[in-house]
This record gives sequence, C-alpha cells and structure tokens, in this order.
Amino acid sequence: MKQELSSEQLLSVIFDYMAKITGENQLERVLVLMANMGREMIVADRCAVWLIDEVNEELFTTVAHGTKPIRIPYGSGLVGHSIRTGEPIVIEDAAADPRHHAETDRITGYVTKSVITIPFRNSDGRIIGAYQAVNKLTEAAIFTSKDIELLSLAASYAGKSLESVMLHQEIIDTQREIISTMGEIGEIRSKETGNHVRRVAEFSYALARSLGLSEHDADVLRTVSPMHDIGKVAIPDSILNKPGKLTDAEYDIIKSHTKIGHQLLRGSRRELLHAAAIVAEQHHEKWNGEGYPNGLAGEEIHIFGRITAVADVFDALSAERVYKAAWPIEKIEQLFRDERGKHFDPDVVDAFFRVLPELIEIRDRFSDKEA
Ligand code: C2E
Ligand code: SIN
Ligand code: SIN
Ligand code: FE
Ligand code: FE
Repeated sequence: MKQELSSEQLLSVIFDYMAKITGENQLERVLVLMANMGREMIVADRCAVWLIDEVNEELFTTVAHGTKPIRIPYGSGLVGHSIRTGEPIVIEDAAADPRHHAETDRITGYVTKSVITIPFRNSDGRIIGAYQAVNKLTEAAIFTSKDIELLSLAASYAGKSLESVMLHQEIIDTQREIISTMGEIGEIRSKETGNHVRRVAEFSYALARSLGLSEHDADVLRTVSPMHDIGKVAIPDSILNKPGKLTDAEYDIIKSHTKIGHQLLRGSRRELLHAAAIVAEQHHEKWNGEGYPNGLAGEEIHIFGRITAVADVFDALSAERVYKAAWPIEKIEQLFRDERGKHFDPDVVDAFFRVLPELIEIRDRFSDKEA
C-alpha cells in the first residue's frame, strides 16, 4: 500500500520532471517522462501516454509501464472513448465496463482494475492524445476527482513540450524522406554508381568520427553526404555516361552539378537540408583553393565538404566508372599522400589512413558487384 503524496512531494515531483521534460527533444523520452510523472503524481501502478496516429487511424503508446508499445484502433477502449468525447473517465473495475479494451489485458497478461483516463489538447485546442493510468496503489484503490485534476495539470504542463517535440520529429522525418528520395533519384540517373551513395554515407561517417566530430554531427553528415551529386540530375546522360574523356566544354557542364545541387537545396534553413546544400556545393572545393565552384580554400570549406571530398574521390577511384577502370589500393593511397594539403585537408587525409581498413570493409560490404 502506498500513500497519496503531500503537497510538497507533489511540487517536487512536478518540478523535477518539468525540468527534464523541457530539456528533452526526443519524442520517446518525453513520453516516458510524462508517463513517469503521471504515475508518481497520482500513485498509480502504471501510466501511459497515448497519442493519435491519424494516418493509420490508430492510437498508440510507446510507454506502458512494464509493457511493450501497444496499438489499438482509433476510438476503441477507454482511451479511445475518452479521446473521442473529450471527457475524462474514472472507473473502479475495468472488467465490468464494456468500453474497456480487454484485448490489451489479454495480450499483456496484466489485470486492469481501476482506471483513469484524461484526454489532452494541443495549443489549438485539438485533442492529440490521452493520459491513462491503471490500478491505484493506495488503500482505497480507486482514482478520484483529485486525480483527474492532477493528471490534467500534468498534461497541461507537459503538453507544450510534447507538441513542440512532435513537430520537431515530424520536421526531421520529412527532411529524411526528402533527402533519401533525392538521393535515390540521383542514383537512378547514373549507370555506374550502384551503391555509391550508401558507401559515401558510411565513409563520411567513419571519417567524421575519427576526426572527433560529435555523434550528432557525424550522423547528420551520414544522412546528407549521399546527396552530394544530386545536381547531376540536371546533366544530360550523353555527358554523364560518356565513355572516355570529356571535352573542356562537357567538363564545364558537369562541374555545374555543384551549383545546381546547391540551388535545389538552399531554400531551407532546416538543419539537414541546410547541411545537404553545403555538401552539394562544396564537395569539389580543394584545400589549396583550386577546386570549384567557388575556389574556397582551407577552413573556408565547411568540414562536411572537406570530408565528403575524400569519401567521394576514394569511392570514385575504388570503383569502375564508364570513363575509367578501378584503381588498385596502392595507387589510391599514393594519390591521397600526394594530395594531402593540396586537394585535401591534411587532417582528413590523416583520418583517412587511420580508418582505411574500415573503409575497405565498407566498400566490400556495399560492393556494386553484388548489388
Ligand atoms: P565522380 O566519378 O564521382 O568523380 C569524383 C571525383 O573523383 C572527381 O571529381 C575526381 O576528383 C576524382 N576522380 C575520379 N576519377 C579520377 C581519375 O581517374 N583520376 C583522378 N586523379 N581523380 C579522379 P571531378 O574530376 O571534379 O569530376 C566530377 C564528376 O565529373 C565525376 O564524378 C564524373 O561524374 C564526371 N567526370 C569527370 N571526368 C570524367 C570523364 O573523363 N568522363 C566522364 N564520363 N565523366 C567524368
Ligand atoms: C483501454 O483503454 O481500455 C485500453 C488500454 C487498457 O485497457 O489498459
Ligand atoms: C550519382 O549520381 O549518384 C553519383 C555519380 C558519381 O559520382 O559517379
Ligand atoms: Fe560531384
Ligand atoms: Fe560522387
């Protein structure tokens, strides 16, 4: 048996959790924190935060204490009822209530007795989910109107953070979708590339980690580096897939893929698309200032551009292209030694030699032959 919390205990629970929730930008962790906060405030055995999945017309929870993520049809169960009507529900014995989604208990093997459910809204007043707590742990063993008040309070405190995290998540997901779609378009265009985009992603990530970039930045680079050649969608096939040497005029046209890629992506200030625009524009810049399109030198070139340059050339040389055979590894190593501090950032070349065994392993894992 447990006791209800005193006012001081309540305040300290709310205070502790709100500090954590406000600092969190991952949806799953916000949901866990909200559920934990609700459970402690009203002394329940379990608590879950349910959200609406409008696309699939389902309700889902990523956290139900002691259980795995659960999905139920929109409108079903006590939660569904509460969300549909916008009213809280408090019941003493779920088994005796026809609205209870008994299937959930059957799946989880958990016996639901007392239940409290309250819907919560976003800042436009639209219901976006519900709190549900199960099995009151005090001697009385039932939830009261005081618990409704407390959970409503928790929901209104946490609702803003939840909403902004959901928006943030949606924006990130959208960017990832755009980027992977564009990467695939780029890949389809060019006959010889095959797994090129995947290899460049993994090479860039390995180089970034070896250079001491944070996990976050390395992950951003892994997501966007496959897009470096997206501007090639605007280059005619007859030039892109020409066997053998290009004329100067043809080479100039190909070089425009950096500017074109940048133009395609530059409209966005979103982190991922913004990084993708940088990589598209800068991956052919050279450390000594002799690259294109802008002749940037040294650290004027974004570190993402300097890393992608090494990843891209390593891949181009390792692989066969319509215009060239694959190079043996000794010749590739020689080129990177020669171009250290000329074409390439010396630090990135040093990282290249540190992680070379890993790069070779990645290259063989995503080889075009098996693709
Ligand atoms: P890519 O095939 O992905 O090559 C990327 C970069 O790898 C090249 O950028 C270059 O820095 C390096 N690279 C590739 N092959 C060789 C090589 O045989 N020797 C040396 N030293 N470096 C090499 P770059 O030169 O700015 O070329 C950009 C893109 O232009 C290439 O992307 C490719 O799509 C196209 N391209 C370049 N040269 C030719 C060519 O002779 N024929 C055709 N059809 N396309 C070419
Ligand atoms: C419901 O609201 O009935 C589904 C979830 C549960 O029973 O715990
Ligand atoms: C691509 O269009 O995916 C890249 C082509 C290449 O770098 O060879
Ligand atoms: Fe390129
Ligand atoms: Fe490339």
